[in-house]
Amino acid sequence: MWRMTRRQLFWLKTALHIGAASPLLLLFLAVNNNVAGGDPVQYIIHFLGKGALNLLLLTLLVSPLARWSKQGMLMQLRRPLGLWVFAYASLHLVAFFSLDLLFAWQLLLQEVVKRPYIVVGASAWLILLALSLTSFKAAQRRMGKRWQQLHYCVYPALLLVVVHYYWSVKSEIIEPSIYIALALLLLSLRVRRFLPRK
Ligand code: HEM
Repeated sequence: MWRMTRRQLFWLKTALHIGAASPLLLLFLAVNNNVAGGDPVQYIIHFLGKGALNLLLLTLLVSPLARWSKQGMLMQLRRPLGLWVFAYASLHLVAFFSLDLLFAWQLLLQEVVKRPYIVVGASAWLILLALSLTSFKAAQRRMGKRWQQLHYCVYPALLLVVVHYYWSVKSEIIEPSIYIALALLLLSLRVRRFLPRK
């Protein structure tokens, strides 16, 4: 049976980094050349939020794919992908605070009351922060069993993100509903792991 080599994994990781970084360059060019729609601030916030969600789904696709193709090495893609999710989500958050709220922290409470889905997004971001800070080998060794338990929190984080998305849209609910279905599908592939063993 064909087995992926370390060299192939290296190139796959390089492609992953290029693939994840280039949309940011495209976003920069679109904004700079005034082709980011009539409301560039909304365009940037949506682009980064959607990017974070797509990358999160991709991260959670890795382990079923590795199992199905019997290429255990693919599992090593999860950490760089997860860190890219965090980078996009953090830029999304920074874009909201800087470009939408113009750093007016006193407006934050007002905004949260007006748009409660922000609390849901913030909860997901805090989980992603904890996962990113503990994603290093040293943290994994030090935390032992608790590491796995903490990293299972990526599943509630995914649910929080799709709820955040669904709640944030005003009328067009088809696309967020598709994302909810995709998230449930990815979670259903893992249900067996959490059922009591016979
Ligand atoms: C404190 C954290 C967060 C804040 C303040 C925040 C804020 C926002 C805002 C203001 C919007 C735009 C709503 C509108 O249309 O007016 C939005 C949409 C969205 N956010 Fe977040 N968000 C946060 C965390 C996250 C995280 C962690 C993710 C993903 C990992 C995420 C993914 C999305 C997505 C997918 C959308 C919908 C984009 C679209 O309609 O195309 N957000 N968020």
